[in-house]
Amino acid sequence: MGYAEVYARWKADPEGFWMEAARAIDWTRPPSRALFADRAPIYEWFADGLTNTCWNAVDRHVAAGRGDQTAIIHDSPVTGTVRRLTFAELQDRVARLAGALAARGVAKGDRVIIYMPMVPEALEAMLACVRLGAIHSVVFGGFAAPELATRIDDARPRAIIAGSCGIEPNRIVPYKPLLDAAIDMAAHKPEFCVIFQRDQQVASLVAGRDFEWHSFQAGAHPAACLPVEGNHPAYILYTSGTTGQPKGVVRHTGGHLVALHWSMGNIYGVKPGEVFWAASDVGWVVGHSYICYGPLIHGNTTVVFEGKPVGTPDAGTFWRVIRDHRVAAFFTAPTAFRAIKRDDPAGEHVARYDLSSLRALFLAGERADPDTVIWAQQKLGVPVIDHWWQTETGWPIAANPVGLELLPVKVGSPSVPMPGYDVQVLDEGGHPVPRGTLGAVAVKLPLPPGTLPTLWNAEPRFRKAYLDHFPGYYETGDAGLIDEDGYLYIMARTDDVINVAGHRLSTGAMEEVLASHPDVAECAVIGVADALKGQVPVGFLCLNKGAARAHADVVADCVRQVRDRIGPVADFKKAVVVDRLPKTRSGKILRATMVKIANGQDFKVPATIDDPAILDEIRAALATLGYPVG
Ligand code: COA
Ligand code: AMP
Repeated sequence: MGYAEVYARWKADPEGFWMEAARAIDWTRPPSRALFADRAPIYEWFADGLTNTCWNAVDRHVAAGRGDQTAIIHDSPVTGTVRRLTFAELQDRVARLAGALAARGVAKGDRVIIYMPMVPEALEAMLACVRLGAIHSVVFGGFAAPELATRIDDARPRAIIAGSCGIEPNRIVPYKPLLDAAIDMAAHKPEFCVIFQRDQQVASLVAGRDFEWHSFQAGAHPAACLPVEGNHPAYILYTSGTTGQPKGVVRHTGGHLVALHWSMGNIYGVKPGEVFWAASDVGWVVGHSYICYGPLIHGNTTVVFEGKPVGTPDAGTFWRVIRDHRVAAFFTAPTAFRAIKRDDPAGEHVARYDLSSLRALFLAGERADPDTVIWAQQKLGVPVIDHWWQTETGWPIAANPVGLELLPVKVGSPSVPMPGYDVQVLDEGGHPVPRGTLGAVAVKLPLPPGTLPTLWNAEPRFRKAYLDHFPGYYETGDAGLIDEDGYLYIMARTDDVINVAGHRLSTGAMEEVLASHPDVAECAVIGVADALKGQVPVGFLCLNKGAARAHADVVADCVRQVRDRIGPVADFKKAVVVDRLPKTRSGKILRATMVKIANGQDFKVPATIDDPAILDEIRAALATLGYPVG
């Protein structure tokens, strides 16, 4: 069946469509229906079913006689190792870890924070939690201690599972001091921590609170999979919003299983047993959905890659991994390809490897610029599929569903809406705009299974952030258009979220850090276009009268503070002192105008501007940072 027919079938009978998809999942008690709308506009899926995520991702494959199939390949150029785990081995390891956690009191509904690098043990920790019905929250390793502390206070975990260190190409990143600092800062204290010690940096443990990974599990009784309700949270994943307080996206168990399974075959076009590789990190949603859960639920082998697209050791690493492990479908962020293209524009590395196993490349996480897509098409000779989604949705909103049918690729477009998503482009008043017109991209409620039902302990914030602005719709926060053929184009964010090397970051959170500097009276952070990373943050600082420190010192303080308080991943390296910020007469900072100046784009001086002369000062300040602003 082709895409149009499948989409039309979903539209005609969403309930029947999702109930049929739910048959691919093992249920202890099948759900009586798909959608639970009694609290609309808050929706839940498969709420009265009983199932277990770990059973569906691991145990059932062993029970079906596929225990010897490789489940996880850990390919780690930064340590020079490759390790494989079969489904049977994974089952043993996860059941034992879950048993040890249970023996220490971790039970259904308890939260567990996971702060780990790209090692199979990170997936084992996630799977051990869902095995018990505990709710994990994975925190990306590139975040600093205060970000971890914020998540500890919001999720209130009973336990934290962490690695002793991460390995970046240029340095070892000790995680344990960050963890200790975060626990000190947080008001909530976990009962205990489990530390996975890596040879590269062994951490010192706090007696009575910290347990070493292996000794923690010694003698533990393997735990069985606990069936949980379809609307029981499998995990919380924090993502950036407009303020420094991240949003805790909740993922319910039933819809997550059904949607991810559906996506593996129909969108990514892989069959059980094939190797699927998403080169992302378990700390992001791509890592949750397509390094850990999606491939395993679908019975695929997943690759856990601990390296970078370039420099580990060279721009041929991706091709080496695809060749060595016979990867059938590969997923990464466009920024990774831009990094490779910069190092190896002629694609000489590509030519050195047998990539015959690869059938398609999938790009997401940020806008896929046409140059990058065309380069990838030419060098790899396989369809390059841009697809668009968010932490909130957990799986693609729009894609070219190669598993159903390869639709004509339009470079610059993530193609068409997937079943479950009725995507509309709206004007400010919430009315659909004509085809080809730019507007706010929204999805008609209800969102499909697998998407967020709410924010953790913050339903009012959920409603305000996503539902209130356009009643009857979910507001994606992206702006774009739909063309005459129904293809979607995602152009920009409508809020203060920026995308740096495929990482979603809040300029508001960075402004909060800058504003706390004693010499800073006022500030603004904007995302400026960057050839490699898509966007990079740039800060503008207005200092207090009589500020004693030199401008360069204040800038250096601010750069250091953003790194220490948000993390290296914020990539905040550029800031400049200015006398004033451009504002409207009512005092709103004109960030969008500043972005246009920095990007060298044409713009109209806003009619509401207080003093247009300030724009020249901004232009001059950007020039000092090396931006060719005319
Ligand atoms: N732990 C600790 N630090 C981390 C980290 C982690 N897990 N991940 C990144 N960092 C650090 C980096 O070391 C770097 O620190 P530095 O300022 O001291 O150099 C900083 O955070 C920025 O990292 P990054 O954005 O990775 O930039 P880079 O210049 O090191 O590499 C790319 C550039 C394009 C190669 C890299 O960003 C990349 O591979 N991007 C793909 C992103 C991706 O897959 N995103 C997932 C969405 S699908
Ligand atoms: P995250 O929640 O980190 O996955 O970030 C989601 C945001 O990244 C989206 O709201 C978009 O702004 C952007 N994004 C992700 N994929 C794409 C894409 N294919 N094209 C354009 N923007 C994208």
